[in-house]
Amino acid sequence: MGDLSGQLALVTGACGKLGPIWIEALTRVGARVIGVDVLPGEFDGATSIEVADVTDRDSLLALRARIGTPNVLVNNAGIDQPPSGDAGSAAIEDVPFDDFRRVLDVNLAGTFLATQVFGSAMRDAGRGSIVNLGSLYAGIAPDPSMYDHLQLDPPFLKPPAYGASKAGVLSLTRYFARLWGPYGVRVNALSPGGVLGGQDPEFLRKFTARTPLRRLAEADDLTGPLLFLASEASRYVTGHELRVDGGFTA
Ligand SMILES: NC(=O)c1ccc[n+]([C@@H]2O[C@H](COP(=O)([O-])OP(=O)(O)OC[C@H]3O[C@@H](n4cnc5c(N)ncnc54)[C@H](O)[C@@H]3O)[C@@H](O)[C@H]2O)c1
Repeated sequence: MGDLSGQLALVTGACGKLGPIWIEALTRVGARVIGVDVLPGEFDGATSIEVADVTDRDSLLALRARIGTPNVLVNNAGIDQPPSGDAGSAAIEDVPFDDFRRVLDVNLAGTFLATQVFGSAMRDAGRGSIVNLGSLYAGIAPDPSMYDHLQLDPPFLKPPAYGASKAGVLSLTRYFARLWGPYGVRVNALSPGGVLGGQDPEFLRKFTARTPLRRLAEADDLTGPLLFLASEASRYVTGHELRVDGGFTA
């Protein structure tokens, strides 16, 4: 049931940490995968990478004209801290409003635009699965004490817009699930918890201690849930948030 042979899958934010994991998994079950990113990236010959910006409707419309209507859309493009800003380490009273808005723009408005452009074509085709990337911080607030060992002044803060944007993504997930369910398009969210990748040892110790399964996620922990939501294995599931967080939010 997880087979996606002959299907076209589109993954936004393809060239970051998780994009290649989704692309590899979708390719493994037979999908033809097109990745989208603002940055050109390196992938094996089976995957084409298109340069487009999820906050730019015209660039998404041009992409749709080039590639057609996907069967699977993974709305994965997102930012945590704006690339040019330092909102994460500014004191809360100094977090630049533009940084706050940029996170909402990419994570929330970008998910809306890609869904609007590609999802409406999926609705017209009468089939498809959309998977939106949420986060554990869609449902709970980051705990500043996770970072206090860094001893930064001002103390490190996760950007306040991040969780807000992801909570909005969950709302959009339910919105489009209800709107397009009657047309055969399912819309779900996958919310990862902590994913291993270069975190400092003290952060890992604290995070692990609060995670019931006592570790962070590795790539293989995420691919099963993604393929479940993308494929017919979840054919009676829509509007759902699948938390893949080792129980962190339990
Ligand atoms: N890595 C984690 O631990 C984790 C945990 C929970 C949720 N997530 C979510 O998973 C998704 C992927 O995370 P990641 O760790 O791979 O992030 P990342 O920063 O490594 O990669 C994000 C990619 O999105 C691209 N991107 C940024 N703005 C874009 C735009 N306007 N248009 C198109 N592409 C754009 C970037 O160039 C980058 O390649 C994000 O939505 C993130 O919020 C990640």
